[in-house]
Amino acid sequence: MNIKEIVEGIYYVGVNDRKTHRFEALWPIPHGVSYNSYIVKGENKTALIDGVEIGECDKLRENIESILGQGTAPDYLVINHMEPDHSGSIKVLRSFFPDMIIVGNAKTLEMVKGFYGVDDNIMKIADGDTLDLGGMSLSFKLTPMVHWPETMMTYVEEKAVLFSGDAFGCFGALNGGIIDTETDIEPFIPEMYRYYSNIVGKYGIFVQKAIAKLSPLNIKYICSTHGPVWHEHRGKVGAIYDSLSKYEGERGVTIVYGSMYGNTEEMAEAIASRLAERGIKTIKMHNVTKSHLSYIISDIFRYKGLIIGAPTYSNTLFPPVETVLNAIKTRELKNRVTATFGSYTWAPQAVKRINQLLEDAKLYNADIASVETKQAPTATTLSDCRALADAVADQL
Ligand SMILES: Cc1cc2nc3c(=O)[nH]c(=O)nc-3n(C[C@H](O)[C@H](O)[C@H](O)COP(=O)(O)O)c2cc1C
Repeated sequence: MNIKEIVEGIYYVGVNDRKTHRFEALWPIPHGVSYNSYIVKGENKTALIDGVEIGECDKLRENIESILGQGTAPDYLVINHMEPDHSGSIKVLRSFFPDMIIVGNAKTLEMVKGFYGVDDNIMKIADGDTLDLGGMSLSFKLTPMVHWPETMMTYVEEKAVLFSGDAFGCFGALNGGIIDTETDIEPFIPEMYRYYSNIVGKYGIFVQKAIAKLSPLNIKYICSTHGPVWHEHRGKVGAIYDSLSKYEGERGVTIVYGSMYGNTEEMAEAIASRLAERGIKTIKMHNVTKSHLSYIISDIFRYKGLIIGAPTYSNTLFPPVETVLNAIKTRELKNRVTATFGSYTWAPQAVKRINQLLEDAKLYNADIASVETKQAPTATTLSDCRALADAVADQL
């Protein structure tokens, strides 16, 4: 049982999931994930903030009752986000606690009815409304499209605690420690990049609006729905979100390539080697048929340089590279230094297609000449690859 008093009157009552292989049936979670739920206990009323995945309802109930007492219901369930990894428990929680009032904004309540058929005993709140629990009040901040239309955050001014929904969350189950002061945060940071880039990344403009809305608040604890409670490192995770949502890109290069028989890979190696000679220490290389897409997207979001290579395949682009390019376009990534390369045997198509897809994504960089080799790379090809690396290094 993972129970923790975060500050006086505010408790962590979430659960860990180390069974699921793929979050959203898409993203590998080798280190699991936590579904974070919290209790705010005022002098008069209590609120449960967000629920858990449907398979974990019994554990959540045990956790709630260990704080409130056997058979005691929270007065309110506040729903910051309706994605079913949190809201899946609504119907079961309602059967456990029939008098518990469900609190959400108009869009949330419409989804509660649509997903779970629940439309009684509800409280509709609007942006800026507050709910007094006695000595503590919940203040609701609507943050639409971070990353669903109904997403909102709940702030407890008296304790400087923000319940941020999925924002500032990450993959990784909580291995004992709940607050960042009591656990090694290093494994969670790359998982925050991966979570953000794959799930939230498309909505940078809305994340920026949310950050602007939160900036006047005094926040000492960020309680998201996944991963540790951020306290000591709240500035660091805030900066990560700010940078990612501005699509800034750190100094470094992601090289994404496909290769069946090693010709394109040899070009990738030549490019990487020259980048290193130019003093670029952060070079992330992904063979698309080995790395899962989520790790590739994570690095592409994190680093400023993006070099993509592939062989021609059946008169078009090697398919897994096309998948990566589609994922980039879907997420409306911006502001990257791109370059491309490839290999063919009789009729080149790969580089043309990569460049077209980059153009569609508004990421094509006409300043750097692509390199495409017929059959095995020659000395000239490899020299051109080094020149490509130089051009990327110059623009970083
Ligand atoms: C199934 C298959 C389809 C291919 N289709 C084409 C093609 O349409 N046009 C072409 O010029 N080369 C084609 N090739 C050849 C490869 O593009 C070429 O051998 C390239 O050098 C392979 O790069 P790699 O060694 O990095 O895998 C094809 C190869 C395979 C295996």
